[in-house]
Amino acid sequence: MRRFILAVSALALATTAAFADIVADRQAVMKENAKQVGVLAKMVKGEAAFDAAAVLAALTALNGNVQKIDVAASFPAGTDKGDTTASPKIWEDAAGFQAEVDKFKAVAASAAAAPAQDLDALKAQVGAIGQTCASCHQSFRVKKG
Ligand code: HEC
Repeated sequence: MRRFILAVSALALATTAAFADIVADRQAVMKENAKQVGVLAKMVKGEAAFDAAAVLAALTALNGNVQKIDVAASFPAGTDKGDTTASPKIWEDAAGFQAEVDKFKAVAASAAAAPAQDLDALKAQVGAIGQTCASCHQSFRVKKG
């Protein structure tokens, strides 16, 4: 019995560690998204000059990153625990969350396929991308104090 309990708690620890890796990985993906959007936001704010090649590079990197998001792999049930701001709503409203991911993929793909050629177009493009981030965060992220 004691050996059984030890085995079960070792398994629980291993599961927790695997979950921690999954959470860290998806947070790294999000940080990378924020980095690419940051490159574009600097141009929008006038902190950097408009640079069509840099826009294309950032949108291509963002799109590549976004297309790899796999809800089943990155948000398995149980990963709303621990060092995460993922809301339990991801699992309560799985269809709604998947819809936000699909929207994110569509917006990123169309932006990468038609990168802005001037600052006004970039403003619109960054606005559309930012709205996608905000919409999902509003519904599916919690603030942890
Ligand atoms: C489909 C939903 C969804 C979309 C779209 C989305 N995010 Fe997130 N984001 C999340 C979730 C869920 C978390 C919480 C992940 C966690 O802590 O496990 C998160 C976390 C983050 C974090 C914090 C990462 C950390 O280190 O804790 C940043 C930064 C971020 N997102 C940036 C962005 C940006 C920028 C965009 C748009 C380009 C974006 N996100 C689009 C769902 C989304």
